Amino acid sequence: KILILDFGSQVTQLIARRVREAHVYCEVHPCDVTDDWVREYAADGQLKGVILSGSHASVYEESTDAAPAAVFELGVPVLGICYGMQTMAQQLGGKVESGHQREFGYAEVRAHGHTALLKDIADFHTPEGHGMLKVWMSHGDKVTELPPGFKLMASTPSCPIAGMADEARGFYALQFHPEVTHTVQGRAMLERFVLDICATRPDWVMRDHVAEAVQKIREQVGDEEVILGLSGGVDSSVAAALIHRAIGDQLTCVFVDHGLLRLNEGDMVMEMFEGKLNAKVIRVDASELFLGQLAGVTDPEKKRKIIGGLFVDVFKAEAAKLKAAGNGVKGATFLAQGTIYPDVIESGGAKSKKAVTIKSHHNVGGLPEQLGLKLLEPLRDLFKDEVRELGVALGLPHDMVYRHPFPGPGLGVRILGEVKPEYAKLLQRADAIFIEELRSTIDPISGKSWYDLTSQAFTVFLPVKSVGVMGDGRTYDYVVALRAVCTSDFMTADWAELPYSLLKRVSGRIINEVRGINRVTYDVSSKPPATIEWE
Ligand code: XMP
Repeated sequence: KILILDFGSQVTQLIARRVREAHVYCEVHPCDVTDDWVREYAADGQLKGVILSGSHASVYEESTDAAPAAVFELGVPVLGICYGMQTMAQQLGGKVESGHQREFGYAEVRAHGHTALLKDIADFHTPEGHGMLKVWMSHGDKVTELPPGFKLMASTPSCPIAGMADEARGFYALQFHPEVTHTVQGRAMLERFVLDICATRPDWVMRDHVAEAVQKIREQVGDEEVILGLSGGVDSSVAAALIHRAIGDQLTCVFVDHGLLRLNEGDMVMEMFEGKLNAKVIRVDASELFLGQLAGVTDPEKKRKIIGGLFVDVFKAEAAKLKAAGNGVKGATFLAQGTIYPDVIESGGAKSKKAVTIKSHHNVGGLPEQLGLKLLEPLRDLFKDEVRELGVALGLPHDMVYRHPFPGPGLGVRILGEVKPEYAKLLQRADAIFIEELRSTIDPISGKSWYDLTSQAFTVFLPVKSVGVMGDGRTYDYVVALRAVCTSDFMTADWAELPYSLLKRVSGRIINEVRGINRVTYDVSSKPPATIEWE
């Protein structure tokens, strides 16, 4: 396995994803773990390499974080990225100076020498025959003197030491970010490091993971009983299917329907889990409660808090019943959650110290303690794409597993301002038309549907009325906005260039089929500065 030490960069998760995509198991841990921890971690001989991530701080502020010295004494290769390179240089006897000018964005880097990391990797060659790399840079400080034993591996005019290596010891460092897709050969570099330099075997595959995960759940749960909050989203669905595969009727799912789901979504969830998988599911119809509490509330953060709070209350009440009365037998002792690896990193990693809350996301942390239940999180080690692969391996339908993300507060944040039942009904119908057309329109070049070509698409209800004309009459009805974005990490996103013909069909259908809406707009804002959701 590979150990990634997180210095707090926004893109540390991407390093882990790239490593996993190379079918090598890796874990992210905060950079301030102790030397003893590192030695212990490597003690079983499974650790084949270490990656030091970039830092949020190196761009905006001074950082004093350093890697545990033990990392450089394990005898395994180490790769430093951005801040990881700077701290490597500093700790091994080189020099780092704060840059007078920040470098941020696209850069062309010249590769020097034939290091094992960059050998034969180039995007183009200069007339003199130098291999050049198109990369993504983001740093203020830079290395100005190589540590003893190191040679120059890459440079740019403004950053003369943009890469360095001590090949005898297996230490490599890059000032740019190989983990982001803007660095064209980034994937090749990380694969090179992990597979060749660290000599790992690419044996991390999902198929084997099912049997292993099932076995682990059985061992952990024994003959006890488990409650799981099913939302219909990918994570909780896959967790439910996996746990059901492992322990069958010892699992009870609680599905809280807050009335702000997509059209017919509640029925579809029931049909899948109760109907097809034969799992025990309790559906709680709480839409009146939710919509009642939301009446008159317009502030987005307040709406989120209300929905999140009620969700927890309703779920807790159901769970308490199950805990007491049991699944007919003894009473539940475990609470299962579809926590995935990015959630784990986000809440425990070095990042949390510096992360800025832009929107308070749906959060059910603290529930297990309050309920006095043990926690079961079978997806804790997996990334989203791995969770999806696992879902398919478990037999869940492709369409469900490859669904776009849907926010916990649901349509509550897609109806701007006050949430009213009539708005929700209009939005559900308009959104269903948009999604249906995206699914059925195939792009002739890629052969994929526009649903699969976009990362997230939905409709937003705008509580304003505009004038229209229909037949001979004047209309004065509501407006919706269509939103479709392409992104690989949801931290930045581009609006999708949907074909005009598709937009035309969607708008025609919505205006004709959904009485009460007479105008459809398309959102052409990228993130940043806009966010993906409107609230
Ligand atoms: P933004 O709007 O922040 O969204 O660009 C990024 C991603 O997060 C989702 N999102 C949420 N998910 N609860 C959630 O579970 C929330 O409150 C929430 N707000 C945004 C959003 O759909 C997008 O995928």
